[in-house]
Amino acid sequence: MIPKAELHCHIEGAAAPELVLRQAEKYGADVSAFIRDGAYHWHDFTSFLKAYDGAAGLFRTPEDYALLSETYLCDLAGQGAIYAEFFTSPDHASRVGLSARSYTEGLGEGMRRARERTGIEARMIVTGVRHVGVEAVERAAQFAAGCGHALVTGFGMAGDERMGHPRDFARAFDIAREAGLGITVHAGEFGGPDSIEAALDALRPSRIGHGVRAIEKPALVERLSAEGVVLEVCPVSNVVLGVFPGFASHPFPALYAAGCKVTLNSDDPPHFHTSLGHEYEVASRHFGLDDAALDVITHTALEAAFVDEPTRSALLARIGQHVAL
Ligand code: ADE
Ligand code: ZN
Repeated sequence: MIPKAELHCHIEGAAAPELVLRQAEKYGADVSAFIRDGAYHWHDFTSFLKAYDGAAGLFRTPEDYALLSETYLCDLAGQGAIYAEFFTSPDHASRVGLSARSYTEGLGEGMRRARERTGIEARMIVTGVRHVGVEAVERAAQFAAGCGHALVTGFGMAGDERMGHPRDFARAFDIAREAGLGITVHAGEFGGPDSIEAALDALRPSRIGHGVRAIEKPALVERLSAEGVVLEVCPVSNVVLGVFPGFASHPFPALYAAGCKVTLNSDDPPHFHTSLGHEYEVASRHFGLDDAALDVITHTALEAAFVDEPTRSALLARIGQHVAL
C-alpha cells in the first residue's frame, strides 16, 4: 500500500453517519434533516454546511471528541496513512457549551489512542469560520496561540470564502504566525483567483486549502509555483460540490504539470463519499499518476506538514524506501 498523508480534513466533517447516528441515540436527537438511509443528505454548499453543523452538534463532551478523532485516525491508518492534520473548530465546540480547551484535550486524547493502536502521527490546525465573523476568528487565533497543546501546530480559516475580505482577518493570522503556528487558509474553492491572491497578500500562508481556481489565471499559477505555496487539493470534494463538473475538467494535472506543490486530501470524507485512499485512486485513475508520482505527493505533504523537524525526518524516513526522487 502506498504510504499516504493528509493535510486537509475537517474533524467534524469526518464523522461517519453511523457514528453520528450513535451519538443521536445517545442524546435523543432527530437527524432526519441531514442523514437519510444511513448517508448524509444535502444539495448545495449552504445545505452541506447545515448538515456539517448538525452532525457537529452531536459531539458534546471531551470523550465524544476523543471517540471522533480516534475513529477517524484509525480508519485513516487502515488506508495506509502515516500522518494526518485535521482542522478543529472551537466555534463548533462553544455551540454545545464545550470550552475550546476541553474540546482540544478530548481530540488530543483520541489522537493519543489512535497513535498507540496504529502508529499514526497527527496534528491539529485550529480554524476560525470565515462566515461567523472577524471577532470569532480572532478568538480562535488567540486560543491557538496560547493553548500550549503540543499537538496544536497550525492555524487556518474555513467557511464561506465569499464572505468578507482576507485583509479583515490579517490580525488573527498575525497572532497565530507570531506564536509560531503554521498557516493555511481556504481560498480558490468558491472564490476565484482574486480570492487566492488576496489571501496570499493579506495572510501570507505557506499552504492554501483548495486553491484550485488559480487555474483561471496563468500568472497566479506561476506565482504559486515560484513561491512554493502548497495546495491542499480535495478533488472529490470539488466535483461533488460542483466547483468542477467532473474529474476530466479538474485542474489537478495542469497544476501539477505547472510545478505547483499539490497534495491529495479528503476534506469532509463521508459527506462526499470519499476517503484519503479514494482520493489517491482518483489521482491514479483520472489524473494519470503512477505509484512513483503518488509517492511524491505524500512526500510533498510531509515536507509541508506543520511538525517539528525531528518528527518530519522520522516521517520521511518511514516513506524513504518508497520514494525515489
Ligand atoms: N468547512 C467544511 N468543509 C468546507 C469546505 N469544503 N469549504 C469551506 N469550509 C468548509
Ligand atoms: Zn476544507
